[in-house]
Amino acid sequence: MKNAGILITIAASLLSASIASADAVKVGVLLPYSGVYAALGKEIDAGFNLGLEEFGKGLDLEIVREDSEADPGKSIAKARKLVLQDKVDVMTGIVSSAVAGALRDFVHGAKVPLMITNAGNNSVTGAKCSPYISRFSFSNGQINRLMGQWVYDQGVRKVFTLAPDYTAGHEMIDSFAATFVAAGGEIVGGEYTPFRKTKDFGPYLATAKASGADAVYSFYAGGEAITFVKQYDSFGLKANMPLFGAGFLTSPLYVNAEGDASIGVKTVLHYVPTIDSAINNSFVAKFQSQHEGRSPSEFAVAGYDAAHALSLAIQQGATDRASIAESISKVSFTGPRGEVTIDPKTNNIVQPLYVYETVKKGDKLTQKVLAQLPNTQDDVNGCSL
Ligand code: PHB
Repeated sequence: MKNAGILITIAASLLSASIASADAVKVGVLLPYSGVYAALGKEIDAGFNLGLEEFGKGLDLEIVREDSEADPGKSIAKARKLVLQDKVDVMTGIVSSAVAGALRDFVHGAKVPLMITNAGNNSVTGAKCSPYISRFSFSNGQINRLMGQWVYDQGVRKVFTLAPDYTAGHEMIDSFAATFVAAGGEIVGGEYTPFRKTKDFGPYLATAKASGADAVYSFYAGGEAITFVKQYDSFGLKANMPLFGAGFLTSPLYVNAEGDASIGVKTVLHYVPTIDSAINNSFVAKFQSQHEGRSPSEFAVAGYDAAHALSLAIQQGATDRASIAESISKVSFTGPRGEVTIDPKTNNIVQPLYVYETVKKGDKLTQKVLAQLPNTQDDVNGCSL
């Protein structure tokens, strides 16, 4: 990434024309700008910048960006650099649950606030929660938990599951499976595919087809989601085994790359750009004006809301690590996705969820909201804040 490691004064480029001063709040942004989740990282960054433009006017901020490559080992080295060398006051970013898990002890020990803008790792707002870690995206359990009953209510009784073999894949499937089974459904089989390595899903799709399942429930994201959704369709599975899952599968960020293969896939997310509210319509219009008409995705909104929360904290007088962490954990506002609150018991986000179907309107793929599920608060899961 071109500007990795370079100090960027957003005060100059985005806000007022001031030069960063010694009093500037230093923000370390740690995102994948390369690798399997690169598109996600860039999208979160775009949302974060838009949020600062809108909510951070006049704030004295310095932004230092680093490329995590979605790799746990590399991310630890980059986080240490941001905290120990750049001396950032707050960190934001993190796309992969594996990276979030790897960073937790360092962030907690260094007492640096980390505002997560994607990674759904349950434990960092559960058993391994920290007063310094808050989340502006979702937890893996939260996203999938209500889908067990919802999928059962669609008449599905037997499900085969498919997901990448790392923390997020396991947590998302576990959460869905628990509630699907509790509703009366059966998980007839499942596979975890090698993460960042699987290009050919054929053997797994053949196993799914032979399993006798009524449907497949799945989580994939980024490049893997594009490959998976296309191969699911080209294998001819979609007609007889409908595809359900966590909505990153058909994210508006890359649904056009999936094309018609994505039509009819029914999934769940904390944000879709078709939510009809004045705040969301205005956010979508602003984002589109900066991105050649493209609508924002769930990744953009996490960055945008994190920038909103950080701006509020600083405007309320928080400038150092401890006061920023404290202020962030009390944040609450209405944003593009609806009402957003940080749960003081876990520092995880509380938010509504949207079940959506990818449909074609004219020649455009879009998200048709099928149901809004209630705001869900995670159990404390061993967290005591
Ligand atoms: C995760 O690793 O937690 C993760 C990654 C990509 C997503 C969602 C969750 O789209």
